[in-house]
Amino acid sequence: MTIVRTRPSLIERWREHLPFEADDPDVSLCEGATPLVFAPVISDQVGAEVYFKTEGANPTGSFKDRGMTCAVSAAVRDGAKAVICASTGNTAASAAAYAARAGITCAVIVPEGKIAMGKLAQTLIHGARVVSLKGSFDEGLGLVRKLVEDHPIALVNSLNEYRIEGQKTAAFELLEDLSGDLDLLCIPVGNAGNITSYWRGFREMDAAPRLFGFQAAGAAPLVLGHPVEHPDTVASAIRIGKPVRGDDALTAASESGGSIRIVSDSEILHAYKLMATEEGMFAEPASAASVAGLLKYGADGANRVVCVLTGRGIKDPEVAIAQTEGAVITCPVELGAMETAVLGAPTAASAPAVR
Ligand code: F0G
Repeated sequence: MTIVRTRPSLIERWREHLPFEADDPDVSLCEGATPLVFAPVISDQVGAEVYFKTEGANPTGSFKDRGMTCAVSAAVRDGAKAVICASTGNTAASAAAYAARAGITCAVIVPEGKIAMGKLAQTLIHGARVVSLKGSFDEGLGLVRKLVEDHPIALVNSLNEYRIEGQKTAAFELLEDLSGDLDLLCIPVGNAGNITSYWRGFREMDAAPRLFGFQAAGAAPLVLGHPVEHPDTVASAIRIGKPVRGDDALTAASESGGSIRIVSDSEILHAYKLMATEEGMFAEPASAASVAGLLKYGADGANRVVCVLTGRGIKDPEVAIAQTEGAVITCPVELGAMETAVLGAPTAASAPAVR
């Protein structure tokens, strides 16, 4: 059978930079090659040319797919019959999808009641075994690391080098799209794998934009300099108190001449709504941390900035609904009522708002 592909898989596209041979398994859902979208309103606000790297355009709606195609392909190549991860949601959804694609088993450990509904739905429908832990993400990852010592299950958290390798390809794409001309990258930081990946990708291409990483105020161990026992933020994806790639992230920030700083939940939500209402861009709250940080601290002299939008907004419908509470207008089946509902209540000199 000849398989028709409309575009290369991530591994095919970047094979010479990845640890895969031509005849290795390639478990792909056509990830990567995500759009870089200009952000006119935010550009105006910060006085720089700002773009969004829309990683929500990946098959399962987050950047995790770049790393997961590599981690699952390597697991299959090495004979694994199962993969496992602890997750705040997106890694779980991605692992579940790629495991389904590969025909292997997937188990995910998620903090009870702490993952967004869209991510849970994805993980379940792909057939993963979902374990809801009465504890935090960090505790889940600690236990999973011990579990895989005694069982032949591949760990696909970002401790897994293939995850970092796959995710570094986003940096390659940015350099390609911008002809190497990039001054500053703004990125949310949770378990700190992604900022580590970008820095590796940039270095491999001899590029060195500054990296500004942002953590949520209630989950900012890298800024505080110590683990956070009970991390808390509206951005559930980055509710992490002991990032396993923390040292790598601090190295990436300092080597690039950048930093890791804090954004509050209200700053995250402000950016989240601004992007949606002014730029037409619906990203999940954790992703909005990159824009929140840029708005808060400024472009710091950079001409060209990329904000990484790590995941799609529809993954976390609860936050979107809560932020727009009361906005739905109910209407009986009656033309006058609909007119009022559509145009707003009539005032003395009101002209129709909608024609
Ligand atoms: N943005 C989103 C949407 C995420 O899901 C994550 C991490 C991050 C940012 C932070 O990336 O961990 O590489 O620093 N989500 C992980 C998960 C932890 O389990 O889905 P990081």
